[in-house]
Amino acid sequence: MRYGHFDDERREYVITRPDTPLPWINYLGCEAYFGIISNTAGGYSFYRDARLRRLSRYRYNNAPLDLGGRYVYLRDDETGDFWSPSWQPTQRELEDYSCRHGMGYSIIGSRYKGIRSETTYFVPLGENLEIWRARVTNDRETAARLSLFSSIEFCLWEALDDNTNFQRNYSTGEVEVVDGVIYHKTEYRERRDHFAYFACSAPQKGFDTSRDAFLGAYRSWDRPIVVETGKSTDSIAHGWQPMGSHHVELELGPGETREVIFLLGYWENPQDQKFDPPNTQTINKRTVKPVIEKYLQATAVEQAFDALRDYWMGLLGVIQIQTGNEHVDRMVNIWNAYQCMVTFNISRSASLYESGIGRGMGFRDSSQDLLGFVHMIPARARERILDTAATQLPTGGAYHQYQPLTKRGNNDVGSGFNDDPAWLVLGVAAYLKETGDTSILDEPVPYDNAPGSEKPLYEHLQRSLGYTLDRLGPHGLPFIGRADWNDCLNLNCFSNTPGESFQTTENKAGGVAESVFIGGLFVLAANEMTRIAGRRNDTVEEERCRKASSLMTKVVETAGWDGSWFRRAYDYYGKVIGSAENDEGQIFVEPQGICIVAGIGLENGLANRALASVRERLATPHGIVLQQPPYSYYHINLGEISTYPEGYKENAGVFCHTNPWLMIGEAMTGNGAGALDYYLRINPSAREGISEIHRCEPYVYAQMIAGKDAPTHGEAKNSWLSGTAAWNFVAISQWILGIRAEHNGLRIDPCLPAEWGGFTVIRRFRGAIYEISIRKSTGSTGRVARMVVDGRTIAGNLAPLPARVGQTIEVEAFVQ
Ligand code: BGC
Ligand code: NOJ
Repeated sequence: MRYGHFDDERREYVITRPDTPLPWINYLGCEAYFGIISNTAGGYSFYRDARLRRLSRYRYNNAPLDLGGRYVYLRDDETGDFWSPSWQPTQRELEDYSCRHGMGYSIIGSRYKGIRSETTYFVPLGENLEIWRARVTNDRETAARLSLFSSIEFCLWEALDDNTNFQRNYSTGEVEVVDGVIYHKTEYRERRDHFAYFACSAPQKGFDTSRDAFLGAYRSWDRPIVVETGKSTDSIAHGWQPMGSHHVELELGPGETREVIFLLGYWENPQDQKFDPPNTQTINKRTVKPVIEKYLQATAVEQAFDALRDYWMGLLGVIQIQTGNEHVDRMVNIWNAYQCMVTFNISRSASLYESGIGRGMGFRDSSQDLLGFVHMIPARARERILDTAATQLPTGGAYHQYQPLTKRGNNDVGSGFNDDPAWLVLGVAAYLKETGDTSILDEPVPYDNAPGSEKPLYEHLQRSLGYTLDRLGPHGLPFIGRADWNDCLNLNCFSNTPGESFQTTENKAGGVAESVFIGGLFVLAANEMTRIAGRRNDTVEEERCRKASSLMTKVVETAGWDGSWFRRAYDYYGKVIGSAENDEGQIFVEPQGICIVAGIGLENGLANRALASVRERLATPHGIVLQQPPYSYYHINLGEISTYPEGYKENAGVFCHTNPWLMIGEAMTGNGAGALDYYLRINPSAREGISEIHRCEPYVYAQMIAGKDAPTHGEAKNSWLSGTAAWNFVAISQWILGIRAEHNGLRIDPCLPAEWGGFTVIRRFRGAIYEISIRKSTGSTGRVARMVVDGRTIAGNLAPLPARVGQTIEVEAFVQ
């Protein structure tokens, strides 16, 4: 069943009924000011850090799940009838409801008793504010007298404190209302240099800033007393719950449309200019005034909206494909790229499943997010690499997370996730291949942000690999530490205290737990480093990495091989995990994936054996599950993985992040049909028709789809913020379609199913435009046999680097 449809032309997903199985959200903002917005206008906003600079309040796990947001209300002043054009929160039955989620904006519209309305929500580029442009049209044959009310509930900035510290917070709230602009200034009197503002372009009949006054006692957002009676109270909040609401009266003749603009923004004043006049408690508004005045103008809003659309057109234009398969085309050309931008920006912090409180920028996560993002804005990828590397520890290890506002490592979570450092090497390699900018390797970067500790980034990469080599266990495999990619495989934890964190509690020292996964990851990273060192003419490092890689490959192929698949790990006692010997958890997907991606077993048949085992034991119609059989009870020596009921999350759920590794593995071994088949099983667009089963948004990947052991097999959860975005982008664009940036050219290496014909690609790369045609007749399953570049046949399938910027390079690749 469908709840909407794709509008590929406009790069939008159009939701046509508001009661989607779960709230289907979008993100506003792509620089510093961000918000999440659901299809019924629920959600919240923040500046940079979802925990420390939360502008508007949102209550997670609410009933209904999504309540609270950027609500406007309309009231028919003739009859007293009122409704929400976004359906929530009044839930009046609407005609022609639609929510168009686009690239950085959402447009929610509907009709109710002859009154049409449409609100466009977006964040202008370069600004720390969001615009709600409401247009109301009278489709009736008679004049209409209406009231329009805006509403936003302010968060008292620190989201965790806001959710918990009521004895203080009920007394701190402060606002100012001047010239129709509502300023939220809680804690501005003391240490904060920032405030929020909520402005409106139309003359106002009244306003409210006290939630209690607006809603009325014992009422909720579905029937605020102010909206019901049509009378704002001009309330000024003192403590309790500050909010903002404007009341605008609209008299509309038949056919007439009016536009009202609301601005919700964040502003910082210099510490010594906080107040105006000085030595008062009044906010200095002179600094923010020009911005407010500008964006209350319809033309400025229109221009900002157009600029946002152009911006996205440019970003998505870096790679555009035409294959004729709609699920492939729209994900690669639009939605998967868009999701990669969102994961890059937000990491794992704020979604409907991440509260914006718990998790900062993950070292492992951000490094992988780069893989799907680097081609869009390499300069921001560069900055991210340097920020991330600056949190690395002198040992080469890493803080598992850092805070976006301070860019400092997070001490609460600490380090010891032994896979972390290797991902940095992969992120940097991707950056180098995309840009050719080797200057980044010489960039001085501190360790643990300590001034004076700066060393070239290149050395950080060396220490990353050194970190693994310094921590090898009895089999020669890397020690796992707190966990590896699988945060829930906690082999040194042994927790029997409820509530204790599996990731950060190490209850037992002295064990020998090793990870085959990190072994595979190490080989992948060491191979990248071999190439990087080689290009730098650092033959010593090149040789060292080559040797380390081949040594680790041997270890993985012996101690890490179980007979038909790669093993997963050895536990604290040195007992194998992910082996036919085990009763549960005999085969895990991650080592099959990462080892093959690293090239292990490609030449001696192990890769093919492992892939066959995955097909037999792990693949389901809804994707490849993480392991089999699932853990049916708590294994104290394994940790969080066995805390989940069977089929969920790391306990045999379809953990979508891992699936692309198998797609790549299938493509590397020449099975294009298999690779694409795995791809389409979890491709959200391809699952649109089963939305009542999948339930999450059909335009973005979810972290997890319930596995075959769960009663809800096929149900997705945790949409948006997952490494799934970047890795699927890599798998489809670089390995199945085969358009792959390399250090010295653009590799053209598609691996396709027999029934596919050719396809075309436009790829901007190193300042040139590559116009690529893949020529293939249906029936063939081979690889590129001949390539013609600008009319000349070349040897191999690497399109050379451009001779000059701005060049157009025509590539024809013939598949046999
Ligand atoms: C989840 C993991 C996640 C980890 C992060 C666990 O509860 O299952 O997917 O990576 O928390 O702390
Ligand atoms: C989600 C985390 O963000 C990611 O880093 C981890 O690899 C997966 N969960 C698997 O546990």
